[in-house]
Amino acid sequence: MSEAAIPVVTLDGPSGSGKGTVSRAVARRVGWHLLDSGALYRLVALAGIEHKLAADDVDGHARLAAAMRVRFGTEREGERVLLEGRDVTAAIRTETMGQGASRVAAWPAVRAALLGRQRAFVEAPGLVADGRDMGTVVFPHAVLKIFLTASAEERARRRYNQLKEKGPGASLSALSREIAERDARDSSRAVAPLVPAADAARIDSTDLTIEAAVERVIELGRRRSLWA
Ligand code: DC
Repeated sequence: MSEAAIPVVTLDGPSGSGKGTVSRAVARRVGWHLLDSGALYRLVALAGIEHKLAADDVDGHARLAAAMRVRFGTEREGERVLLEGRDVTAAIRTETMGQGASRVAAWPAVRAALLGRQRAFVEAPGLVADGRDMGTVVFPHAVLKIFLTASAEERARRRYNQLKEKGPGASLSALSREIAERDARDSSRAVAPLVPAADAARIDSTDLTIEAAVERVIELGRRRSLWA
């Protein structure tokens, strides 16, 4: 299959909309590859800290975005994220790293450095790509584009429950504030802001279970004959 013929399904949306979980479940169900593009921005933020870059060093972060050695482990390997061969799965999942990712993601040079890397994830039989600009910038020709939303309260509650599972210290009010801040930055930045693609199907997951949201995506794909 030539690369242009390999189908891509995009899931974009704000943090806590459930797109990560839904994307992973859909990819698993249909046996496609998965791109967690947010993880790449989180890795740039982490690499910046490890290299002791100044918080406003745009060029330094862009260089790291281009040069960092990243590997996403397979499902069998436990879906680990490796940076320069080290397991950083837990380190990139903190809310602090989410905020750092959101900051470096506003810089065009960092986004440009990650563009080709993201497109290289396209592999037969297909790719499910999860992020903020998958349908608008990275894969504008995707065969199916989904924009997943949920109310701000519900998204804060989900993030709270996720972080609580990993240990104490999460505060719902602090998280609500941080998520609102991150959404505002992601939506208002000049380059590749978080907006639905004109041809995206919108799914509001506020009152949906994960399974129901997955089912909707599967059904939309079926209608386009992407899978059985
Ligand atoms: O999806 P996430 O929470 O892991 O993403 C972390 C940050 O990275 C998010 O706040 C904005 C940025 N991001 C982006 O700008 N573009 C993407 N395609 C994915 C993430």
